[in-house]
Amino acid sequence: MKRRCRSCCNVCLLLLGIALISLGLTIFVYFEALYDYVISSAMTFTPKTEPFRVWRVNDPPLVMDIYLFNWTNPQDLLVKGVKPRFEEIGPYKFKEVKEKVNITWHDNNHTISYRHKKSYYFDAENSVRNLSDVITTINVVPLTIAYKARHFGYISKRTISYSLSTLSSLYVTKTAGQILFDGYEESILSILSSVPLTGVTDKFGLFYGKNGSVGTDGTFSMWTLVDDKFGKIMTWNYKNESSYYEGECNAVRGSAGEFYPINRKRDHIEFFSSELCKFAKLEYEKDVEIKGVLGYKYTGKNIFDNGTLRPENKCYCVGECHPSGVFNVSSCRLDSPTFLSMPHFYNADPYYIDAIEGVSPQDKHEFYITLEPVSGQKYSDNFHFDDRETFGQKLQVL
Ligand SMILES: *[C@@H]1O[C@H](CO)[C@@H](O)[C@H](O)[C@H]1NC(C)=O
Ligand SMILES: *[C@@H]1O[C@H](CO)[C@@H](O)[C@H](O)[C@H]1NC(C)=O
Ligand SMILES: *[C@@H]1O[C@H](CO)[C@@H](O)[C@H](O)[C@H]1NC(C)=O
Ligand SMILES: *[C@@H]1O[C@H](CO)[C@@H](O)[C@H](O)[C@H]1NC(C)=O
Ligand SMILES: *[C@@H]1O[C@H](CO)[C@@H](O)[C@H](O)[C@H]1NC(C)=O
Ligand SMILES: *[C@@H]1O[C@H](CO)[C@@H](O)[C@H](O)[C@H]1NC(C)=O
Ligand SMILES: *[C@@H]1O[C@H](CO)[C@@H](O)[C@H](O)[C@H]1NC(C)=O
Ligand SMILES: *[C@@H]1O[C@H](CO)[C@@H](O)[C@H](O)[C@H]1NC(C)=O
Repeated sequence: MKRRCRSCCNVCLLLLGIALISLGLTIFVYFEALYDYVISSAMTFTPKTEPFRVWRVNDPPLVMDIYLFNWTNPQDLLVKGVKPRFEEIGPYKFKEVKEKVNITWHDNNHTISYRHKKSYYFDAENSVRNLSDVITTINVVPLTIAYKARHFGYISKRTISYSLSTLSSLYVTKTAGQILFDGYEESILSILSSVPLTGVTDKFGLFYGKNGSVGTDGTFSMWTLVDDKFGKIMTWNYKNESSYYEGECNAVRGSAGEFYPINRKRDHIEFFSSELCKFAKLEYEKDVEIKGVLGYKYTGKNIFDNGTLRPENKCYCVGECHPSGVFNVSSCRLDSPTFLSMPHFYNADPYYIDAIEGVSPQDKHEFYITLEPVSGQKYSDNFHFDDRETFGQKLQVL
């Protein structure tokens, strides 16, 4: 009995061993396929799965640090040889909650369409500065009006010019709170209400009216099937092309912002940005290790190149081309003169840095994304060109 049992057990063990070995071999041979399978099951995107839950509302909220540039010598604007001087003040810490609303599933072709709703909360506890700081900055309102009026008829132009010179100044001194969310009143806005200007509200603030509203980000449609296209944008405002730039530059493509396809390579990634009204291309720069895990770092430092380093960027030069590092987004801001750059004109032509005082580009101003290569999951990013983070730079350029 015993013997038989032992030999039986031996056989069992042998079989088990073979089974294990073959399982081992199978796993070894099919490891990548299995891994992909596990990853894609974990990423399955349906109304009931975790990736959807995480995607719908960002929890915890994003930390948003805003820096303002205080213009300390506006009275010297017309003095020859004196450069405008700016002092960086901040950070003003906010929490941002981005929610997807108006979600519609299109099961027939594996896409989902949605809009963004953003809410902001001042983080008084952790903020270095408070919103009662008094800041002097460029007065965007008269500049925008003057710019928009450039093609008006003679009489309108004279009226506007007169109103501007008597009622408005090129700079304003307001609290940080007014400049950001609360807005400030500009008498010129009500006086000129008879003149046809788009996008005019009673008050002006960089984030005025944006809190808790479905903003101007537009409607995104994203691919939901976990394959090569997963997380990519299919259309923006139901179109696969925009009309703000020229040719290829109008393509609506890249990640919709949250997901990147699995099995990343050391090449480049793209994502679509409604702030830029275009897709942004980030190039692989190097491997990095974060908490012992391998990541690929993709840098966006050439996003605002004027076509010198990246010939494909030439079609973004609407109107005229300027030295690299500043991006003209006027056409996608209701034609108000708006330009974006990295903070402190990071990686921009010295032309800009030399024109003013108080900016000093440093590595911390770089814009990048780090992904875990197999799952395509985002580890960390350093976003800089949202309106909110760059508006200080935007004002410098104006
Ligand atoms: C901004 O500059 C003005 C003029 O130089 C100064 O009076 C004011 O205190 C500055 N604001 C802050 C917050 O430093
Ligand atoms: C989008 O959702 C908001 C609230 O979540 C609602 O007020 C609005 O009517 C919706 N818009 C469309 C076009 O469905
Ligand atoms: C997917 O389906 C929706 C409606 O169900 C349609 O509007 C959209 O154009 C379709 N997209 C593609 C790429 O077929
Ligand atoms: C945004 O709106 C919410 C809810 O109304 C409010 O609690 C919050 O203080 C507002 N944030 C800012 C920055 O005004
Ligand atoms: C903001 O800070 C100033 C000093 O920097 C202080 O006098 C003021 O009371 C603070 N305001 C609030 C609302 O905390
Ligand atoms: C957009 O769609 C049209 C028609 O479906 C197609 O001809 C065109 O090539 C597409 N454009 C891009 C940039 O994919
Ligand atoms: C484009 O940028 C480069 C580098 O900043 C500069 O040398 C060149 O003059 C710019 N081209 C135009 C047309 O402004
Ligand atoms: C910016 O772009 C607009 C059109 O989108 C163009 O009219 C304007 O001339 C450009 N501004 C500069 C300074 O190149």
